[in-house]
Amino acid sequence: MKIAIIGTGYVGLVTGACFAEVGHQVLCVDNDPKKVEMLRGGGIPIYEPGLEDLVRRNVAAGRLDFTGSTAEGVERSEVIFIAVPTPPQNDGSVDLSFIEAVAREIAANLTRYRIIVDKSTVPVKTAEKVAETIRRYCKSKVEFDVVSNPEFLREGFAVDDLMKPDRIVIGVSSPRPETAMRELYAPFQAPFIVTDTNSAELIKHAANSFLALKISYANALSVVCEAAGANVQEVTRGMGLDARIGTRFLNAGLGFGGSCFPKDLSAFIQISTHLGYDFRLLKEVQRINAEQMDRFVKKITDTLWVLKDKQIGVLGLAFKQNTDDVRLSPAIDLCQRLIKDGARLRVNDPQAMEKAKSLLPPGPQVEYVSDMNAVPEGCDALVIATEWPEFTKLDLTRARKAMTTPIVVDGRNLFDPAEMEQHGFIYKSIGR
Ligand code: UDX
Repeated sequence: MKIAIIGTGYVGLVTGACFAEVGHQVLCVDNDPKKVEMLRGGGIPIYEPGLEDLVRRNVAAGRLDFTGSTAEGVERSEVIFIAVPTPPQNDGSVDLSFIEAVAREIAANLTRYRIIVDKSTVPVKTAEKVAETIRRYCKSKVEFDVVSNPEFLREGFAVDDLMKPDRIVIGVSSPRPETAMRELYAPFQAPFIVTDTNSAELIKHAANSFLALKISYANALSVVCEAAGANVQEVTRGMGLDARIGTRFLNAGLGFGGSCFPKDLSAFIQISTHLGYDFRLLKEVQRINAEQMDRFVKKITDTLWVLKDKQIGVLGLAFKQNTDDVRLSPAIDLCQRLIKDGARLRVNDPQAMEKAKSLLPPGPQVEYVSDMNAVPEGCDALVIATEWPEFTKLDLTRARKAMTTPIVVDGRNLFDPAEMEQHGFIYKSIGR
């Protein structure tokens, strides 16, 4: 099938590349000419495992192309995906101006039946608004359908999540677009849920909020475990093996971050309030998340006492493993707090060092160290801030010798407490 994807960010680019990979003809549209030029030349603006190969292969095969023209996308494609950003506003609500602008552009170029699919994460009732906008701004009486098709991909696993999804959710307001959507997704074998647009939109916010709730539950448990002398990893494993609960997303740590969970949670709280329901449960999820970071900083200051002029090694800057994304990263938040208290940092991340520099400029208080094993040199403490599996391969003997005082504060429970003590470290982690 011929499809256009408007917005070539994370979601748009990965979706476009995966659709091309299964044989569709994909045109990715972006209003940033530099990005279009870069992608046409084989460059990839983001780090995502497997994406570069996928893009190159499909561009070479002639199934994937890039343009700056929405008109071209609308003209050439039967199905047009909207995958533009929906950033948060100051009050936590969602800024829908990019969606609205795209809807108007589609309307201005609509000359025959098209299916317009909203892939961006949007508040319930957005599909209705998009349809209304297109109807209002389209000069002629052209038929079209607006479909909601939320995306559930995780950064760092995006290609896999798209190629092997847990489920595909389609929200429609008439039966007409269903056949085309089924055909489009036929190569991806996954449960296919067809519902109304409002339910489809809610599925996305409800799912992400529930996952955030699971993490906050584990983090709240970690506090109880610490107070009781129990081990949160044992408790969550014991709980999670109940198939109704599941072991995933129960890792206690520094709390969740990134460009999705905090934003989607705030948005869902706002949406619910707007609909007349005070979703206090989710407000508590937010509060636990914020407190988790406060508690971790306290753990560091309780150990080191005065932070001014202390040298602290920090492993991890990305908001989680397998990504170079530092947006709303708990690790960056942590670094900024330590700097504010006067500490000097030696930081390392396998992928996120370049992107971190805009939020954490190199200078007298921040030194970027390219080799993780060199980070502990001269440090008063070493902090683990992101759950990269690479960090478990740290040369502990070398680290122990190189540190001024052998203190390790592990915000992601990557190391075994007994082993760390054997190596001579004063080791603190979360809920253990
Ligand atoms: C998330 C959803 O998983 C995805 O379905 C949705 O489409 C977008 O939002 P993503 O933001 O890429 O994806 O990250 P995710 O892997 O879900 O992790 C989010 C945050 O939670 C990270 O900061 C991570 O460190 C943290 N986390 C995750 C925990 O603290 N504990 C866990 O057990 C799991």
